[in-house]
Amino acid sequence: MEFTQLLTVTNVKIMKILVIYYERMFEMNKVEVKDFKSCLKPMPDILVSCKGENGEVNALAVGYAGNCSYDPPMVMVGIVPSRYSYHMIKETGEFVVNLVPESLREKYGYLGSKSRRDEDKLVKVDVSYKEGLKVKAPILLDCPVNIECTVVDSIMTGSHEMFIGKVEYIHADENLLDDNGNIDYSKINLLKFR
Ligand SMILES: Cc1cc2nc3c(=O)[nH]c(=O)nc-3n(C[C@H](O)[C@H](O)[C@H](O)COP(=O)(O)O)c2cc1C
Repeated sequence: MEFTQLLTVTNVKIMKILVIYYERMFEMNKVEVKDFKSCLKPMPDILVSCKGENGEVNALAVGYAGNCSYDPPMVMVGIVPSRYSYHMIKETGEFVVNLVPESLREKYGYLGSKSRRDEDKLVKVDVSYKEGLKVKAPILLDCPVNIECTVVDSIMTGSHEMFIGKVEYIHADENLLDDNGNIDYSKINLLKFR
């Protein structure tokens, strides 16, 4: 083997050793996190609104939520059984997902800490709403996007029951639509509550 060839082979070997060394270094920086508490981030900050069989309307803050199918369009929301809203959604099989703007931060905090069990929260925080087009649950008018859903399934995952909602109708503020009729999310200053 010529001297230059030997040099190249040696360089490649050194490079490989360095790569392995750096990979190991990064592995060593990983530690196990034992306290699982919502470690999948970012979490959305949405308001789920509902209407009970008795006509009561309500909304609660929800972070356990996400898309779960685009064909057919489905979203899921996780509700703890002790929430007042839980029984409303369970009974009626309907809810609305409302995207929350930063300007509603204070109201969001209130709706996410007080219960309809004790007071009419929507009246208390002065949130205007109207009945959905496809469901009886209310759409919150100060929220730029409202997604009407009917429950097609649910699964008790543990602390939460995940309600799978078929998307029946999507409302958006007129000024948010682009030329193709899609929502331009860059125009919404979405709340990042924590
Ligand atoms: C940021 C935030 C996220 C929350 N996420 C959820 C959630 O995913 N599921 C849930 O059941 N409650 C969640 N909560 C708590 C409820 O919103 C809260 O308990 C509310 O008072 C329940 O209202 P209700 O009893 O009128 O239904 C969250 C609260 C906050 C502040």
